[in-house]
Amino acid sequence: MAEWWQDLFDEKYLTLFAEARGPLHTAQEAEALSALLSRHGAPDDGEILDLACGFGRTAIPLAQAGYRLTGFDLSPQMLERAQEAAFEAGLPLEFHRGDMRQLPAEWSGRFDALINVFTAFGYFEAPADNQQVLTEVARVLKPGGLFIIDVSHRDRMISDYRETDWFEVDDLLVCTSRQFDPISGMNTEMMLWTDDSGERRSVFFKVHVYTATELTQMLQQAGLTPVAYHGALAAALDAHPFDLFSRRLVIVAKKDV
Ligand SMILES: C[S@@+](CC[C@H](N)C(=O)[O-])C[C@H]1O[C@@H](n2cnc3c(N)ncnc32)[C@H](O)[C@@H]1O
Repeated sequence: MAEWWQDLFDEKYLTLFAEARGPLHTAQEAEALSALLSRHGAPDDGEILDLACGFGRTAIPLAQAGYRLTGFDLSPQMLERAQEAAFEAGLPLEFHRGDMRQLPAEWSGRFDALINVFTAFGYFEAPADNQQVLTEVARVLKPGGLFIIDVSHRDRMISDYRETDWFEVDDLLVCTSRQFDPISGMNTEMMLWTDDSGERRSVFFKVHVYTATELTQMLQQAGLTPVAYHGALAAALDAHPFDLFSRRLVIVAKKDV
């Protein structure tokens, strides 16, 4: 049977989550990413890898800002959308399909920075597989290169955990059922909705959610030293310091020289 992360990222994901990261939100994230890249010393025309780039949401505005972008993702549907968007914008982005646990061998030491945003980490059931992603991140960065990761923050998630919830997207009412396993640290969500033709639809995902303590240790183990923490990837970065109540955990780490 396919893993959930091999199945979710097609038109179902776009229906449920593309709206949540609409143009305004994306512009703010791109502004925050540019600010972090320049604040922490990435060259203005540096080579950036958007790891699990989805439909090119953050890769395209960063390329427009002058960085040389490569997008990497597993989903053919996401990559097709990203390629179309890059073509329409007239931007020379490179896209590659693959599994984030194994990046191309020839990429060792290639990138000035690598970004991984909107909870595109923690997908594998085995902790060693998630650690392997960070090992690959470190391998493809230049010494001193930057890694920016943006995930849900476990301490905050647990402090107001809701086992049932709902949200609206366009005209759809989406009901969510959640379960958190405090031993494995995995959060499971099932979302149910009725589509325009009256058919019942559902998606399921199961993601490791980390405390800042855990993710810091994992980064260090991979040879990536955290240099900054933020509570949101928002335009006014310094207005969102990372603390116990931050919904997001954004870490900037540097590859050890
Ligand atoms: C939540 S989306 C985030 C996409 C993008 N970073 C953004 O901010 O819009 C997660 C992405 O991870 C990709 N993905 C899932 N499993 C993957 C894997 N094993 N290797 C590479 N990419 C994967 C999905 O196809 C999807 O595009």
